[in-house]
Amino acid sequence: MRDSSVKLLSHPSTRIEPKSMGKQRVLSGVQPTGNLHLGNYLGAIRNWVEGQSQYENFFCVVDLHAITVPHNPATLAADTYTIAALYLACGIDLNYATIFVQSHISAHSELTWLLNCITPINWLQDMIQFKEKAVKQGQNVSTGLLDYPVLMAADILLYDTDLVPVGEDQKQHIELTRDIVIRLNDQFGSPEKPVLKLPQPLIRKEGARVMSLTDGTRKMSKSDPSELSRINLLDPPDAIQKKIKRCKTDPIKGLEFDHPERPECNNLLTLYMLLSGKTKEAVAAECQDMGWGQFKPLLTETTVEALKPIQQKYQAVMADKGYLESVLREGRQQAEAIAHFTLSKVKTALGYSTPL
Ligand code: TYM
Repeated sequence: MRDSSVKLLSHPSTRIEPKSMGKQRVLSGVQPTGNLHLGNYLGAIRNWVEGQSQYENFFCVVDLHAITVPHNPATLAADTYTIAALYLACGIDLNYATIFVQSHISAHSELTWLLNCITPINWLQDMIQFKEKAVKQGQNVSTGLLDYPVLMAADILLYDTDLVPVGEDQKQHIELTRDIVIRLNDQFGSPEKPVLKLPQPLIRKEGARVMSLTDGTRKMSKSDPSELSRINLLDPPDAIQKKIKRCKTDPIKGLEFDHPERPECNNLLTLYMLLSGKTKEAVAAECQDMGWGQFKPLLTETTVEALKPIQQKYQAVMADKGYLESVLREGRQQAEAIAHFTLSKVKTALGYSTPL
């Protein structure tokens, strides 16, 4: 622990209270494909942090999902650590949350297989994200890409999850998870004794769909080939300034929320609102007479200031790899016990013999 900001993070062995105590369970995750951007932060992680003390939380780095599209084996492990460090840097508190790596717990893959066998293939073919990603992949679409939502269902269901905080784009996958639960409970459980718990999505209205900086009608995405389309959490101030300076706007003076023909304006004002912590009314009043020349430096400064503490904490966490490893080691131990318990329950319900 070389930096005082890291001391604020509790060491896994010094937790002050048990994390459960009858609280509802939350599970969510992010893929280690590149750096996190403002969409991931405002649509998901910020909400995990804000709600964490109310719930018993499990946050995983979903590295098995990362290979559903072509990936680089030379960077996968480092990218996984980066995301785990960013969870801590964004404010995930180990007094309330368990952080772990999906591939470290074999139950995720095993439950996926069991769920595969009760999931109709046309449910998966109907998934919007599959269709979008499959088009981008051309000929090279893997079975894993089609099966991706079943793996996500396994992530959620292994932990008897009540709530899944995500951005809007994941809603359909959680609905599919619910359909799988209903089908499995119907076939192998009973109304009095369901095998798996039915989870609910937790999607906040503001920030649930952060849009691209280069096209306000498309979502900000890690897979957009243009770096200018997104602000990454680890972008230095000059990169943030450049991206905001070049972002798409419109020729209208006076800025306003929710105008159907001004998607970029709505997106940029929403970013300003969420990053400054001001209310929508306050931002609407502050910006109603502004032009872009006045607003862009304001948004730049607000973004740089909002990301500064996250970047400082990230550097401190990454400077102590042993600490990060201990967080993930203990996270795995805690998560694994629960995951294996649920997996055995499902295997028993499906009629498997117990290993001798
Ligand atoms: P991923 O890695 O694509 O995104 C991580 C989280 O960020 C949210 N998000 C956004 N929110 C607002 N605006 C955007 N432009 C934006 N882009 C991404 C996503 O909704 C997500 O919450 N399948 C998931 C990962 C996953 C998972 C899970 C999530 C695997 N297993 C179990 C919850 C529970 C995914 O690919 O997220």
